[in-house]
Amino acid sequence: MEIKTETEKAARNGAPIHARAETYTMQAAAFERMVALRRDFHRHPELGWQEHRTADRICAVLDDLGIDYRRDVAGTGVLAEIPGSQDVPAVALRADMDALPIHEETGLPFTSAYDGIMHACGHDGHLSMVLGAAELLAAGAALPAPVRLIFQPAEELGSGAQAMIRAGALKGVGMVFGGHLDRHYPTGSIIVSDGVVNASTDMFEIRIEGQQAHGARPHESVDALVVGSLMVTTLQTLVSREVDPAHPSVVSVGRFEAGTAANVIAGQAVLEGTIRAQETEVREQLKKGVARMARAIGQIHGARVKVRFPSYAPPVINPPEATALARRAALLTVPDDFVRPLHKANMGAEDFSYYLQKRPGCYVRLGSQRPGHEGFPAHSSKFDFDEAALATGARYFANVARVAGEALSRANGA
Ligand code: NI
Repeated sequence: MEIKTETEKAARNGAPIHARAETYTMQAAAFERMVALRRDFHRHPELGWQEHRTADRICAVLDDLGIDYRRDVAGTGVLAEIPGSQDVPAVALRADMDALPIHEETGLPFTSAYDGIMHACGHDGHLSMVLGAAELLAAGAALPAPVRLIFQPAEELGSGAQAMIRAGALKGVGMVFGGHLDRHYPTGSIIVSDGVVNASTDMFEIRIEGQQAHGARPHESVDALVVGSLMVTTLQTLVSREVDPAHPSVVSVGRFEAGTAANVIAGQAVLEGTIRAQETEVREQLKKGVARMARAIGQIHGARVKVRFPSYAPPVINPPEATALARRAALLTVPDDFVRPLHKANMGAEDFSYYLQKRPGCYVRLGSQRPGHEGFPAHSSKFDFDEAALATGARYFANVARVAGEALSRANGA
């Protein structure tokens, strides 16, 4: 990419970037505020659609910064707006608010105060970073475009983004940006790639209707448990034997329920699982494959089978133009060699995809691996991240708000 400004040259050479109109630096006191805020969110995690205290905290920070907001959006969501040039569409920055039903085992001094609920995916950090960016933007020079802050509930449930969009989160918005902390990359790195960055997700449910019978009289039964077991093992061959190995995909059965007693042959069984794919064709192939195999196995054994796909999230696809703006903002934030492409497909779901179906934008990953430490996986009871990543994230978000705002302003002839 062509480097134009002195600031970008400085960023490229790893030289310290001085506060100029087009970049943001972070003072130690502001960083400490972000860390304190992250720890407060971490100590008080809330599940999807229950983020009441989290919303209170967000609103209190926005009050302190003098930023206008609307709360109780789609339930527990918050929408805020930092003013910029009028007649230019806003740049949206999105942070997710919810925690997970996991019992924390990190032993951190700010460990979850609630049994069985934990910020195990870094959303506490995302909130703190976007609020840190808000502080930089609100205190900085006049903005080329307004900045919309989207504090979104229920990302883990896959329903938050759609609800916020229905409630008007993207009204007046020209572009939308988001990011996720990622322990696979070193702290200070920003991972920017165009194209598919998160896989599509389809949940499936297979209901098996057999015939219940006495455990001693199998000939009078159609054993739903045996039929289900065959399905679990056979479904493993979809990815290994039917999909081109050059195309990443996953079929996982996560739940298998059958039977009521040791001496009763199960008459019913339910399997639930998830399909992940990067390409539409592979996704369709796998959905058809699951349905075909389940029905065929049912037929072999005389069981009735119903297959449903109760929920779906599209893949996250970063369009090239908006991704170029994100890359430019990343180069303003960290040295050149810390701006990197995604090194492998991410098969996790992310409901940011719904925003990108409506507006151009970019979803990045923010490295949060402590030097020399692998760390524990997201969605595990020992997950934690390097808090130094918060400063990188906040500065990136502030920079991308300005860079994208300038682009929108140019496109608007303003
Ligand atoms: Ni997450």
